[in-house]
Amino acid sequence: MTATPATRAVRVPGDKSISHRALICAALAGGRSRIRHILPSADVHSTAGVLRALGVAIPPLADDLRIDGRGLGGLAEPSEPLDCGNSGTTARLMSGVLSAHSFTSRLIGDESLSRRPMARVARPLAAMGATFVFDDAEHLPLAITGGSLAPIEWTSPTSSAQVKSAILLAGLVGRVPVSVVEPVRSRDHTERMLAALGVEMRSCGGHAALTPATDLSPFQLDVPADPSSAAFLAALAAAGGVAGGASIELTDVALNPTRLGFFRVLRQMGADVSWEVEREECGEPVGTITVAPRALTGVPVHAEQVPAMIDELPLLACLATRAEGETEIRGAGELRVKESDRISAVVQNLRAVGADAEELPDGLRVRGTRGALGGAIRSYGDHRLAMAFGVLGAVSGDDITIDDRECVSVSYPGFWSDLARVTA
Ligand code: S3P
Repeated sequence: MTATPATRAVRVPGDKSISHRALICAALAGGRSRIRHILPSADVHSTAGVLRALGVAIPPLADDLRIDGRGLGGLAEPSEPLDCGNSGTTARLMSGVLSAHSFTSRLIGDESLSRRPMARVARPLAAMGATFVFDDAEHLPLAITGGSLAPIEWTSPTSSAQVKSAILLAGLVGRVPVSVVEPVRSRDHTERMLAALGVEMRSCGGHAALTPATDLSPFQLDVPADPSSAAFLAALAAAGGVAGGASIELTDVALNPTRLGFFRVLRQMGADVSWEVEREECGEPVGTITVAPRALTGVPVHAEQVPAMIDELPLLACLATRAEGETEIRGAGELRVKESDRISAVVQNLRAVGADAEELPDGLRVRGTRGALGGAIRSYGDHRLAMAFGVLGAVSGDDITIDDRECVSVSYPGFWSDLARVTA
């Protein structure tokens, strides 16, 4: 008789989106907030650094942080450029906050961030009354001069939580009503957090609206684990890559429905996936995801599924090589303006390891294979590419080498040791 392998339990690090928002809201609150288990990754360090340059006393990121907020509109004029590093969330959310402060600040970022589109936030924020001056084209570096803002009802052509949040934060700090309509609801962490801190918010489908508040309450938050980081270990378990073909239990994960698209698709592919909500944290459901291996089948992924799994699509493409049949992802043109052009980079790398993959203008197509996959891939400094191919190497048991393994520190600093631990 063969024994059933024991389930492995892992608590991946804190949610990146919630960590950024927690720092920003703590900085804007009228009093002392306490944040536990913040994600101490490079992107979150960027937001902390920017807020420090704006006069907020943020201690070094540790498991238990106390932050004294400066109140709505209380940030100080910076004496140096605000370095957003690799973080689009820092640049875009802080653009909203800065639009309502009457001083000029200059935003800079690394090479990848300096290629990413900023017009998507500059347009609505300029329509509200802020001034955006770009050095060149519509990318960083840029200078923002804020001031008193007008209300806005903005219709965004793309589903983007960063655009939506920039507008909501501008409305919050500028004390004007704002509303945003997007094609499909993007992650709604800003709406949930602001509502939990006493702001009157309304959301319905792709529509989110904020009614001005006089102040923002300080808060206590225990940051739940990041479902986007959990997804890597879930994919590994689904494809039988956990040691002994064991199941995995991912504990204390943010189970916000706007983030669970990958887990729904994994289930559609045939994996045994379940989740259960155990508590709530600042309006966010939190609980455990369990994944057991099964034979996987390729599936189509359509535009309306994309926002809830936007960051997991490179991983899905890698996993699709181990599924029977074809996986076609469409309506995902946004992938071209992430930390790298994730459509072209994923397809190029899949081909480099011998997989059958094809680029589409707004997505990609992958046909599964039982053959060996091996070779060298280029991460382009993109953390999610490095981790997706790390998982593929682990599930195929083949030798996939990655040029820049350190870039995982952007979102999941302990990724390689967690991967080694669950595969050993
Ligand atoms: C994020 C929103 C998404 C996502 C990013 C984090 C956020 O970007 O890809 O990793 O925290 O708001 P878009 O808003 O550009 O889709």
